[in-house]
Amino acid sequence: MAEGVVSNVVSSIIVKLGTQAFKEIGKFWGLKKEFEKLRKTMEVLVAVIFDAEAKRVSNNLVKVWLGRLEDAVEDIDNLLDEFQTEAWGRQLMPGNRMTKKMVRKLEKIRETLKDIKEDSTLSSLIPVTLTQETYSTEYINRETHSFVRGEEVIGRDDDKMKIIELLLGCDSDQDKDNISFLPIVGIGGLGKTTLAQLVFNHKMVEKRFELQIWVCISDVFDLKIILEKMIKSINGSVQQGLDLDQLQKSLREKLSGKRYLLVLDDVWNEDREKWLKLRTLLMDVSRGSAVLITTRNMDIAQMMQTNKPYELQGLDKNKSWSLLRKVAFERGQKPHNSNIVRIGEEIVEMCKGVPLAIRTIGSILYGNNLERDWVSFKINRLAKLTQNINDLVPTLRMSYDCLASHLKHCFAYCRSFLKDHVIDVQKLIKLWMVEKDDMGTIVTCKMHDLAISVAGEHSIIIDKHTENEIFHQKIRHISLDTLFDHKSSKF
Ligand SMILES: Nc1ncnc2c1ncn2[C@@H]1O[C@H](COP(=O)(O)OP(=O)(O)OP(=O)(O)O)[C@@H](O)[C@H]1O
Ligand SMILES: [Mg+2]
Repeated sequence: MAEGVVSNVVSSIIVKLGTQAFKEIGKFWGLKKEFEKLRKTMEVLVAVIFDAEAKRVSNNLVKVWLGRLEDAVEDIDNLLDEFQTEAWGRQLMPGNRMTKKMVRKLEKIRETLKDIKEDSTLSSLIPVTLTQETYSTEYINRETHSFVRGEEVIGRDDDKMKIIELLLGCDSDQDKDNISFLPIVGIGGLGKTTLAQLVFNHKMVEKRFELQIWVCISDVFDLKIILEKMIKSINGSVQQGLDLDQLQKSLREKLSGKRYLLVLDDVWNEDREKWLKLRTLLMDVSRGSAVLITTRNMDIAQMMQTNKPYELQGLDKNKSWSLLRKVAFERGQKPHNSNIVRIGEEIVEMCKGVPLAIRTIGSILYGNNLERDWVSFKINRLAKLTQNINDLVPTLRMSYDCLASHLKHCFAYCRSFLKDHVIDVQKLIKLWMVEKDDMGTIVTCKMHDLAISVAGEHSIIIDKHTENEIFHQKIRHISLDTLFDHKSSKF
């Protein structure tokens, strides 16, 4: 079962058990009490699943616990379907042998569930409540700040100057709103925040803007919190307990008549109304002010009705290689050994210019200056790293975590396609059937390792290379590769 989907299945079981059909089944087969107990257990579980999901990445025990729960939940869902099919087929004839077998199955599952439920509280794996605040700080701390050491950043001089030109050009733009908004857009780990930091600390920028404000937004786009953060960035502190109106007055007073640069880093909010409320408070303060936004999502940039978004690109090969050298070797020197250089270039190729990926691998290789270390990394870890998205691009994982559950399900479903297989989007939509999502003008796409990672061990693809694949108990979805050459197969 894909991550994030277990709560969906539990909810659908609760709904199912409350339907007229199950009331009838319960009545005819004397299972009314059993179904009721099951429904109650499900209701208790649904309350802790959210917390458990939030902790899955950072806590292995929770991961194991959720794995057990997923298996049990999937078994229940299948069993309920069996009950329904039986009921239709036998028109609710009570007392037959099949029913007894199914009741035994039901009892067994309820026992398992009881253990799982007890484990969650006995071992305190899951706190009773997990607020949005603790979620965002404990789960993945994405708070950023405005400082960067320019010497540590490779190959962003051109981008930096382009952004500065765009920001400083704001004045000549006789915009009636007196402010311009510029988003930097790019995938996770590409260096948007780093670029914004470079710009923020540039002398020309410091000279031009009387006030410079850095606000890290991340997953909570709350007007009050943003205003508080802005005041704190200007003043160094903010008075506690002010209501929204007091905050907006205080902020607008501070901004009034001063040309300011505001960086809104890491924006995920897709709610246009929320954005417009903030935007209104930022306007009509001082001509030539600017707001620099970083976001991964082009739709968000467009929703904000800003200037043309700045689409950040990956580092080119030379710059990527020099970043890898810088991180992996003491003084960033080029290694003498040509085999190490070759492996380094392969790594760089694989990282597609994403600094976060290059840095992650560089740090792993740091201190390993011998050829055999690099060869062993290539053989033993490089392939696995590309498979394990959590190690390579953890930020991509966050994009997945932010999807609604039903979209997570759709995404994980893509595990059924071979890696790099070109997927016809229209076909995919048909396959999703009820879970259709508007795919805009995209015609084809390719599947990423992330889908494989999140789908977990519950699905496999059988192709001609599958001979060593282990068919373990947890597999629930099998796809046959249609390109499979049947003549040469063993199946
Ligand atoms: N040009 C660069 N040279 C060296 N290191 C870089 C460069 N760009 C980014 N980095 C490093 O890569 C990592 C990711 O960069 P950054 O946080 O700026 O990415 P991002 O695009 O803002 O990602 P996210 O979408 O997750 O916010 C950081 O550790 C940063 O220091
Ligand atoms: Mg960032």
